[in-house]
Amino acid sequence: MSLYHPLVVGSLTLPGNLLLAPVAGYSDRAFRALCIEYGADFTCTELISAEALIRNGVRAEPLLRRADTEERYAIQLFGADPEVLYKAAALLAPYGPAVVDINCGCPVPKVVKTGAGSALMRQPSLLGRMVEAVVRASKDHLQSVPVTVKMRLGWDSASINYLACARIAVEAGAAMVSLHARTRAQGYAGKSDWSAIQDLVSRIAVPVAGSGDIFSPEDAEAMLQTTGCAGVLFARGALGNPFIFSAARSLLLTGSYTQPNTVERLHIGLRHLLLLAQDWGEKTACLEMRKHFCAYTKGMPGGAPLRNKLVHAETIEEYQALCAQFVP
Ligand SMILES: Cc1cc2nc3c(=O)[nH]c(=O)nc-3n(C[C@H](O)[C@H](O)[C@H](O)COP(=O)(O)O)c2cc1C
Repeated sequence: MSLYHPLVVGSLTLPGNLLLAPVAGYSDRAFRALCIEYGADFTCTELISAEALIRNGVRAEPLLRRADTEERYAIQLFGADPEVLYKAAALLAPYGPAVVDINCGCPVPKVVKTGAGSALMRQPSLLGRMVEAVVRASKDHLQSVPVTVKMRLGWDSASINYLACARIAVEAGAAMVSLHARTRAQGYAGKSDWSAIQDLVSRIAVPVAGSGDIFSPEDAEAMLQTTGCAGVLFARGALGNPFIFSAARSLLLTGSYTQPNTVERLHIGLRHLLLLAQDWGEKTACLEMRKHFCAYTKGMPGGAPLRNKLVHAETIEEYQALCAQFVP
């Protein structure tokens, strides 16, 4: 079988196995729309607080909505109380997610101090009850869409327990486990340990999606090859680089790929800005776009002076003029 192949997640069959990871602050509707256009087989919202959703759903609305080009997507929830998670998942019905994912990997203090995110891995039985609750909510309110979990290796190097947590999650009904092969203590530093992904693939009966250090099409190929994982999650490697999906697919299917040139990169960046403006209005979009444009221009010859100017741009016209000056 080709390394690029459909991915079966419970009752859902995805056309391929190149997936956009949840990336808070980046994987919003605008960015997801571009990733789909450039070949991502599945996308996921950033983590959304189950508590906040129940208390004030309207505020989470922009984060929850599907992009126009997204035929299907996952919504990721975080929380530490199974009943809260049940209620939050039930509220997702109007958005029609194809998957509900539970965050068991977020390392951010604000999240872990509530017992959510990667702190759930310190309480595997609670993690199991969280999955059960969302599976129940899915049956009751979401036409039984698959429930998945995304986790890390464990809390720290002294408490690596991804296998126990994954087994509990699968027992509770999880249809796929995504493993970011770093501990909570590592944050995003150091190398991710792909041997753990390989280990998990051989030990659980549901598909495993691998995450960690996917910065190029070659990285995705290497992860699929060496770990045997069913799918690959692109996170930091997709920022300012939504075309990485079509490049990876081309590499897997034909053995080669082309990269967009500077003009194309800037053009896609400007389209990204227009999509953001549709959702957030021009002012906020221009502010939000600064970090994205840093990513689009990363590694671009002469990109540093352009970046210095772009981070002060306040209108769409200014962005367009700066890009036009750069590539007349
Ligand atoms: C800025 C940032 C935000 C992230 N937000 C989320 C999130 O909301 N939910 C989640 O499960 N993982 C989140 N992650 C983790 C990524 O999905 C991914 O697992 C991790 O970055 C490892 O992949 P990489 O080394 O290829 O970037 C985030 C990562 C980064 C860098």
